[in-house]
Amino acid sequence: MGEAILKGLLSAKVSPPSRLHGAVRSEARAKELTRSLGIEISTDNAAIVRQVDTVVIALKPQAVLGALRALVEAGAVHADQLFISIAAGVSIAEMEETLGKGCAVIRAMPNTPCAIGRGTIVLAPGSRTKPRHLAIAHRVFDGLGLTLELEEKHFNTVTGLSGSGPAFGYIMIEALADGGVMMGLPRQVATTLAARTLLGAAEMVLATGRHPASLKDDVTTPAGCTIGGILALEDGGIRSTLARGVERAARLAADLGRPTKD
Ligand SMILES: NC(=O)c1ccc[n+]([C@@H]2O[C@H](COP(=O)([O-])OP(=O)(O)OC[C@H]3O[C@@H](n4cnc5c(N)ncnc54)[C@H](OP(=O)(O)O)[C@@H]3O)[C@@H](O)[C@H]2O)c1
Repeated sequence: MGEAILKGLLSAKVSPPSRLHGAVRSEARAKELTRSLGIEISTDNAAIVRQVDTVVIALKPQAVLGALRALVEAGAVHADQLFISIAAGVSIAEMEETLGKGCAVIRAMPNTPCAIGRGTIVLAPGSRTKPRHLAIAHRVFDGLGLTLELEEKHFNTVTGLSGSGPAFGYIMIEALADGGVMMGLPRQVATTLAARTLLGAAEMVLATGRHPASLKDDVTTPAGCTIGGILALEDGGIRSTLARGVERAARLAADLGRPTKD
């Protein structure tokens, strides 16, 4: 995700490349990213954080608080910095407490289509977030897709829906394509038809603002093939399977930051 965000910032020309920096864990990866992105990627978190005013934390959830603590101990954190964390399950209160010094914290939940500028990103402000901080967060993410603001209490649900959702969508595309292949279509054609069909349906929902059920009714001719297909999907419990998938992912998101907190 960190790489996707940096790529988005570079392609949207949000900042000159000389003002963008990154840090990863392994030297080999730092060298590879420095070469591929054309900006300085280091393995020294403190050295990077000391010189910037906005820090995007894209670590695995269980590593976030330890890494913030290490930054504070290294004297790399200063009071007027903004920290934006994309980690699932790590609360703003925990990060504000760990950072101290009055640093502003914003949580963001992007998804992987950010890598091609088609992401969906939700932002939640912290207790010390000022409008100028949110404006910076919008500058970071707006080039990567659609950016919305919500209260932090919804973040686990957002994680289970739009954070995990691309994976659910890939399974739907693959399964629809399997049906086409079963009936004789070449795999590549079937995948293109499935992906573009879901893309078009999604764009119909967004462009018309109509309820998906009403759009579905438009496609179902009485005694036709579409209603027959829908009944087969309903037999398989497609609605509750998808809804329960989001519910399960959201409940698991709540525990993601836990292991290193005690
Ligand atoms: N993947 C998603 O779809 C998605 C969506 C929304 C939010 N998120 C959130 O994004 C965060 C990152 O997920 P990811 O899938 O991008 O993980 P990832 O691919 O494992 O990337 C984690 C990165 O952190 C680096 N890293 C690990 N320990 C470090 C340390 N101590 N100091 C500096 N860098 C360190 C790793 O460097 P090396 O490469 O050198 O090991 C790697 O570049 C998670 O908190 C997740 O909740 C993910």
